[in-house]
Formats: sequence, structure tokens, C-alpha cells
Amino acid sequence: MRHRVPAVAGTDANMQQPQPASIPWHSDSAGSVIVKSVAEQEAMRRVGRLAAEVLDMIGAHVLPGVSTEELDRLCHDYIVDVQKAVPAPLGYRGYPKSICTSVNHVVCHGIPGDRRLKQGDVVNVDVTVIKDGFHGDSSRMFAVGRIAPHVQRLVGVTYEAMWLGIRAVRPGTRLGDLGATIQRFVEGNHYSVVREYCGHGIGRGFHEDPQVLHYGTAGTGLELRPGMTFTIEPMVNAGRREVRLLPDGWTVVTRDHSLSAQWEHTILVTETGHEVLTLGAGERPPA
Ligand code: MF3
Ligand code: CO
Ligand code: CO
Repeated sequence: MRHRVPAVAGTDANMQQPQPASIPWHSDSAGSVIVKSVAEQEAMRRVGRLAAEVLDMIGAHVLPGVSTEELDRLCHDYIVDVQKAVPAPLGYRGYPKSICTSVNHVVCHGIPGDRRLKQGDVVNVDVTVIKDGFHGDSSRMFAVGRIAPHVQRLVGVTYEAMWLGIRAVRPGTRLGDLGATIQRFVEGNHYSVVREYCGHGIGRGFHEDPQVLHYGTAGTGLELRPGMTFTIEPMVNAGRREVRLLPDGWTVVTRDHSLSAQWEHTILVTETGHEVLTLGAGERPPA
């Protein structure tokens, strides 16, 4: 997810050039949003599927005793050798690994290392793949062996929160509607929404405009248009919403050390609603 930055008015200088068949669409408050052409949408579908397939592959390896850097190696090799694609995080702003692994009270951007997972842990694995110049970004929570009911509840509420947001995606919906929907549901379940990190436009860029906040005010913000692609990736804390950045410059943890969960999908806005580009094998929108 991207770090949230204050909204600034879009200027010609910071507008990115659309591809030939794209229609540029300028947001009202936060720079420019790149609307994808039909061909670009097809490339986003392909890379979205790759990101999902990495997560489908890694699930069986998330077991007690495995280290997060073993998970990183498996994902790296699968992306590079099998998919003939590129792991977007590797070298991104100096990030040292190919995936993020965020265990228990780690909110996001956990760096894989020699830490071994143990029974009862929960880990978010966040995968971003680049293929043919386009990015696909998705993350899932994995339980390590059996987990406690309160942990399962946090993971489940966070999953539902993501899907509530996804279900609201259609032309005319505003970003504030998505944020408000997610926030109301999370806080109604007595959890909190992380504010410092958010979803993001995605395409040729890893993190494009707009910023997709997981809290907000209905009826405000950018209005969605067909051809937009962005992530929805709520980070939900069991305790307080405040976070702290560790000295490694990446790892984000909850200030109160409460558990945190996150799920992420990449979404395309269609004429009639949306397409989820990173659906897992057998994953269906929950009822
Ligand atoms: N995949 C993350 C996201 O959802 C970003 C990770 S950036 C990294 O946007 F450098 F930490 F990998
Ligand atoms: Co993301
Ligand atoms: Co991600």
C-alpha cells in the first residue's frame, strides 16, 4: 500500500501521459488518474492473474517452522522462473525482498527474514508482479496451523471489509463512499482502520493516483469511471489505529502491539460495476 500524502491540485507538470487509446481523466483533488484502454485492461487482467497464482502457490508452504525468507525465495523463483515476470517490490525504493510478510502485530511491509513462523501466528503475504509493463497487487492472510478464535474474527472482519468496499465499486461511486463503508463496518466491529497507508491506482505504475483511503465521508472524493484500476487493501487493527515505523525504515507495527490484519485485491471499474483482477482459485465474492 502506499503512504498517504496530502491531496494537491493536479497540474499539467505532474500529469502522466496516457497511452494512445486511453482517455485521461483528471481527478478533482489529487492529481491525475490514468484510465486504462481496452488493451491495457487486458494486460492488467493477465498480471492480476499472475499475482493471484503466486498467492495460490504459497499457501501450502505457510506452515509452522518455515521462515519468512523461505516464503520470499519460493515466491521470487516462481515469479521469475515459472511466470517469466518480475517481483515489483525487489529494489523498489531500496526494498530488499520480493514480497512483504507481515506477522501478527506487523501492519504492513514486513521484510522477509530468518524469523520462523509458529503455530497460532497469522501472516499477510503481499505479492506484486510486473508483466508486460503492468502491475498486479494482492495480499492475503494465512493462518499458521490452528489460530485462536479472536484472531480468526479479526481476519474475517478484515476480509469482509475489503469485499464491502469492492462491492460498492461501479461508475459513479465516489472514493469517500468506499472509505466510509469500510470504516463503518470495521468500527462497528470494535476494530480500527489504519490511516497512514491506503490503496492506490495501479497500472504501468506500482502506486498511481488516486489514493484509496479505507475511511472517509460518503459522497466526497473522486468519482469512479470505467477503465480505472486500483487496489482496495484495508489494514485493520484489533486495538488502536496508531502505527509505528521500525528503524529498518519499512516494517510498520501497531503502536499498542495489538494484532493487525490486511487483505488486498486489484480492481477494474467496468461499465456496469467491477472486475476483481486478483481472485484466488476458487475464491468467490462472499454472500
Ligand atoms: N504491495 C504493497 C502495496 O500493496 C507495496 C509494497 S512496497 C514494498 O502497495 F516495497 F514494500 F514492497
Ligand atoms: Co497495494
Ligand atoms: Co500489495
